Amino acid sequence: MKCGLILMSSLKAIIEPFTQLEGGLMPALHAIQEEEGYISNDAISELAIAFNYSKAEVLDVLTYYDDFSQEPLGKNIIRICRAEACQSQKSEELTQELTSHFGLDLHQTSGDSEITIKEVFCLGNCALGPSVMINDSVLGEASKDKVIKFLEKTEK
Ligand code: FES
Repeated sequence: MKCGLILMSSLKAIIEPFTQLEGGLMPALHAIQEEEGYISNDAISELAIAFNYSKAEVLDVLTYYDDFSQEPLGKNIIRICRAEACQSQKSEELTQELTSHFGLDLHQTSGDSEITIKEVFCLGNCALGPSVMINDSVLGEASKDKVIKFLEKTEK
């Protein structure tokens, strides 16, 4: 019980600076995502109270944007572009290869919390498709091997 109280007060402290801002919900969501790694049910409740929204309204906002997750994400987030230009450059095949390699479905996180695979719709790198974003880096002409090599390099 004490743990839950500490968690709630930490959420309140994260949210508080944004409550006086017009449109403060979005930066508050970003701050929680950054600090906690995901938007928990407790966070949704605290945000609803702080901004005088219903929980459903907070949920509508956070599910609309791909930036937010309701579950803890992996240390490395692989976002595969599945928009049209990348589809024509075999992003579907790449998705199959990567999900099969890591034994994950899209939007799943590995048991060791190392990898999350997500889809994204355009990374602004259409001429070099298929494009993949790994954490903050965009890889063009991506392949399974290129993604794996990139991950190995970031671990060193
Ligand atoms: S369609 Fe994939 S980067 Fe634009």
